Amino acid sequence: MCGIVGYIGTRPASDILMEGLRKLEYRGYDSAGLATVLEGELHCVRAKGKLQNLQDKIEGLENPARLGIGHTRWATHGKPEEHNAHPHTDTYRRIAVVQNGIVENYRELREELKAKGHEFRSDTDTEVIPHLIAEHLKNPLNTDASLIERDPFLEAVRASVNCLTGAFALAVINADFPDELIVVRQQAPLIIGLGQGEFFCASDTPAIVPHTRAVLPLENGELARLSPLGVEIYTFGGDRLKKHPFTLNWNPIMVEKQGFKHFMLKEIYEQPGVVRTCLETYLDTAWSADSKGAPVQLKLADGVLDGVEHVQVVACGTSWHASLVGKYLIEQLANIPTMVQYASEFRYSPSPLTRHTLTIGVTQSGETADTLAALEMEQKRREQARDAALAPRMLGITNRPESSLSRLIPNIIDTHAGIEIGVAATKTFTAQVMAFYVLALDLAYRRQTLPLERIEQILDGLRQLPAQIESVLESQERYIEELAHSFGETQDFIYLGRGINFPIALEGALKLKEISYIHAEGYPAGEMKHGPIALLDAKVPVVAIAMPGTVYDKVLSNAQEAKARDARLIGVVPMNDPEAEHTFDQMLPVPVVDELLSPILTVIPLQLLAYHIAARRGLDVDQPRNLAKSVTVE
Ligand code: AGP
Repeated sequence: MCGIVGYIGTRPASDILMEGLRKLEYRGYDSAGLATVLEGELHCVRAKGKLQNLQDKIEGLENPARLGIGHTRWATHGKPEEHNAHPHTDTYRRIAVVQNGIVENYRELREELKAKGHEFRSDTDTEVIPHLIAEHLKNPLNTDASLIERDPFLEAVRASVNCLTGAFALAVINADFPDELIVVRQQAPLIIGLGQGEFFCASDTPAIVPHTRAVLPLENGELARLSPLGVEIYTFGGDRLKKHPFTLNWNPIMVEKQGFKHFMLKEIYEQPGVVRTCLETYLDTAWSADSKGAPVQLKLADGVLDGVEHVQVVACGTSWHASLVGKYLIEQLANIPTMVQYASEFRYSPSPLTRHTLTIGVTQSGETADTLAALEMEQKRREQARDAALAPRMLGITNRPESSLSRLIPNIIDTHAGIEIGVAATKTFTAQVMAFYVLALDLAYRRQTLPLERIEQILDGLRQLPAQIESVLESQERYIEELAHSFGETQDFIYLGRGINFPIALEGALKLKEISYIHAEGYPAGEMKHGPIALLDAKVPVVAIAMPGTVYDKVLSNAQEAKARDARLIGVVPMNDPEAEHTFDQMLPVPVVDELLSPILTVIPLQLLAYHIAARRGLDVDQPRNLAKSVTVE
């Protein structure tokens, strides 16, 4: 979705803003722009399309301004045209605003402001904001004259945001106040970075980490003034707040491709490390059935996992797929009935709450609007029930502990995958599935639903996974790259899986459609004959995940049904398996593991297949069309 950057300091702002926007490109956008303040004038440059178009426009312009804001826009209100790109300005082009989110009451405001003589130049909701600020500067509403006299710009922004409804984050500059950058947060992320004599703001941390790791995330209903003297934070009500920055444990190299052609490929290759980190962080690696303590240390507050009798998980997209694997694990290992719901559906039709329900929100970004809205709704209904036992049983699984999710839910399992730049989630999916292994094992241990020897066996299996992923990457990538050549004309794919590998079929299909724009459907293998089989012919490849375990023979029979309809069969299969060799036209073999652990391995060839098909088609793998890394609008 949209990206915001802002800078005030001693260096030329344009370079820093452009660099920041590049770091936010991965979030998806269709136009971009910059505004700076130099010698009492506002300079605004905007361009449709990629950042290079904006770069071309500012190339050669001498602009040493030390204050500025920048934006990448993902169109919601108004087409992706230059006149709709941010920053937007007031009638006299003194105030510039960039916004992420949606101003819901913009129509009424626009009419009111037009009636007062304000001239509008775009079709966006955002444009009302600079006009509103200009109006409040001209006709201050606040009765406390001393505040207006002392901080006229800040007060005008504060008065304006109090007129807005919706979810938004803003950065605002004013040519008449060249030492102030004002930022606002209301239900959309905004982070402040604190450097030496310079300050940054951004909607996401990658734009800040190259400069500083000391950050201050704003909360909803807060605004801040960044000036050469420091950062002041206020509530929308005008109260000054004291906040302490925290240090991000990132290093700037994480946001580089490090020799890989695309971030997605780099992130696929980072998965062995992601699994290792999870094991080291949450498991007692020396644990055995004879050990005294628990095998898992999740470091959650008391009461969160006690007496759970029902689990409901809310998530979107790939996180929803990881949650389906989680459902399987929690049910099979800890014997707790588990439901997984799309966050966007849950909000309007939540399942009944019981005293013993644990609600889990899963989101790698921690900023997905649908997931946050569902969890806020869940939190409210728990409060309204006025039952103390309900309160603590909420848990978040995220890769961004600095995100809105972590501020909404204090109990978090941090997936520690490191920043993921590719829009198509890969390593964060694996990290989320790993989080579910540790959670399910913790619940199983507490509830004594598994013999200790079985827990030990699963832990042993988990410890083998990093090396096994490495072996799949090593042995498969070349072959899959070659195989990808044969799908140049393919328009439809079917992915089949059963049991714990059904979500992997969904995930394989999602990866392919996201980045290659090929239509792909994931289906439970046994359901194919109830409908989708009608789609099959020689032009539709079928990818089936057939791993040893409870459903192996069944999946092989389902694959045969597809073969009988002339479909080309590709199998994610156990290594050296004669049965599989007999069934499939092409095979993507992975090491034989406990069925329960197989999703971590079976997803790897499917990620590679999607990647190479898209790369072969010359598509923008890391920033596929129409998609955003974190979807911050509902
Ligand atoms: C994953 O490849 C997708 N880009 C998308 O489905 C994503 O998983 C979804 O938007 C949820 O994001 P989140 O995990 O940040 O909440």
